Amino acid sequence: MRVIQTVATTPFTDQKPGTSGLRKKVRVFQQPHYAENFIQSVFDSLTGFEGQTLVAGGDGRYLNREVIQILLKMAAANGFGRVLVGQGGILSTPAASHLIRSSGAFGGLVLSASHNPGGPDEDFGIKYNVGNGGPAPEKVTDAIHARTLSIDTYRILEADDVDIDTLGTSRLGDMTVEVVDPVAGYAGLMETLFDFAAIRRMMDEGFTLSFDSMSAVTGPYAVEIFEKRLGAPQGTVRNAIPLPDFGHHHPDPNLVHARELYDRMMAPDAPDFGAASDGDGDRNLIIGRHCYVTPSDSLAVLAANAHLAPGYASGLKGIARSMPTSCAADRVAEKLGIPLYETPTGWKFFGNLLDAGMATICGEESAGTGSDHVREKDGIWAVLLWLNILAARRQSVAEIMAGHWAAYGRNYYARHDYEAIAKDRADALMAALRDSIPRLPGTANSGGVISAADDFAYTDPTDQSVSRNQGVRLLFEDGSRIVFRLSGTGTEGATLRVYIERYVGTDGDLGMQTADALEPLVRAAQEVADIAGYTGMDRPSVIT
Ligand code: G6P
Ligand code: ZN
Repeated sequence: MRVIQTVATTPFTDQKPGTSGLRKKVRVFQQPHYAENFIQSVFDSLTGFEGQTLVAGGDGRYLNREVIQILLKMAAANGFGRVLVGQGGILSTPAASHLIRSSGAFGGLVLSASHNPGGPDEDFGIKYNVGNGGPAPEKVTDAIHARTLSIDTYRILEADDVDIDTLGTSRLGDMTVEVVDPVAGYAGLMETLFDFAAIRRMMDEGFTLSFDSMSAVTGPYAVEIFEKRLGAPQGTVRNAIPLPDFGHHHPDPNLVHARELYDRMMAPDAPDFGAASDGDGDRNLIIGRHCYVTPSDSLAVLAANAHLAPGYASGLKGIARSMPTSCAADRVAEKLGIPLYETPTGWKFFGNLLDAGMATICGEESAGTGSDHVREKDGIWAVLLWLNILAARRQSVAEIMAGHWAAYGRNYYARHDYEAIAKDRADALMAALRDSIPRLPGTANSGGVISAADDFAYTDPTDQSVSRNQGVRLLFEDGSRIVFRLSGTGTEGATLRVYIERYVGTDGDLGMQTADALEPLVRAAQEVADIAGYTGMDRPSVIT
């Protein structure tokens, strides 16, 4: 007999969802009742899901399978009618978003800590996505957080584990569990957006691609799409098998953690195009042969050329970027005569704009790009749009970049991260910066004269909700910009992110080394925020 148990529990005080759901060390999630409390708090914050469908899946990291079993039994005990779970518990974040949308699900639970490492001593995460397929908006995550602080019971079905490895349907109490192919629906969606025939032709003619799945979730997606459907040779996708600890790699596609790809792309015999994605498949890194493309530039180029892909042939409604993302996309929007929206960091802020049909393409400096095809950023989508553009334009990535800068000017850009700072020191640095905002305009430093300073606040144009304290911005008279904010996705201490940008017009020097172009602004950031004084670090941990 299957019995619904009501289990007594006490709140954990550390279950506040961050930029992208609840992320903690695996050991934290392994505490008795920890995952259960959070999942019940999600369910308790929702109404009207009885008999409805829930989507469940994750990036395959350590604890993925265990938490899938728990959430299946809890979904059954809480009255969901059906759960669609990716085979093996696997669903990339964009594929989960698509599945929620295409199945008309009430929402979904995505198990991932994105680009953070996996394994028994590393990170795990749970994120709730709403019916539009996107991350829950702040009013929902606030309600979830409030509930975690008062929860006293959770409901779970006493039952054997469900077979999540065999495709098909089974019963769990009164609920149906449907194990679905995690790749097929998503790959089908990609075929509707891009000119697969043109890309295949380009591949047949000898175009070479290297895609690094970083032993994370995109492996099966990339093999199916790039190797099987687009005809790239076997082996094009590297590290293609998702592993619970990502093979001890840090599945963050940046120049530090995807160094192997970078070196391959800079070698004399480099392929034409290289890319990587992160743990859960929503981020992307783009490197052409001998040509690294910053995520901010990638957004601008994709927006400027999207009309070359069938899914975007009728043009874009608008472009949205997070505030710290460079302003390169703004110039494209201006030229196209479409609106540009500047949002706080976090993909969830794009959801309303996409739902309202105000924006078509969105992007963030943190290696995220996507469109209204789903409500998450999408690594493989970004690679396919690049390939479609390359197939249509018949130019190299380096030629496309040079042409773009010649037309729009260049936003030299870098992000400096100071990691694992004691939280009180990081907070003190930000507090001092905020205090200095009124005094800064008109003052000069190594970067030039500051013309304006503020702490970014965003009013969502669709529902007028306001998000404050989203990062301190310094604007310089020449259009340069420095932004300071603390990361919302870390699990240890605090990470200070300093975003540095300098615009050079079409008549300026478009061929500088980024570090050289930004050097005076890097010094200015030190002067204004006394980073070394507060953090004890005289250089960033990571530059991307
Ligand atoms: C996640 C979110 C992104 C966000 C990124 C960086 O990947 O999905 O939307 O840009 O984290 O966040 P952080 O707060 O660490 O800078
Ligand atoms: Zn991710």
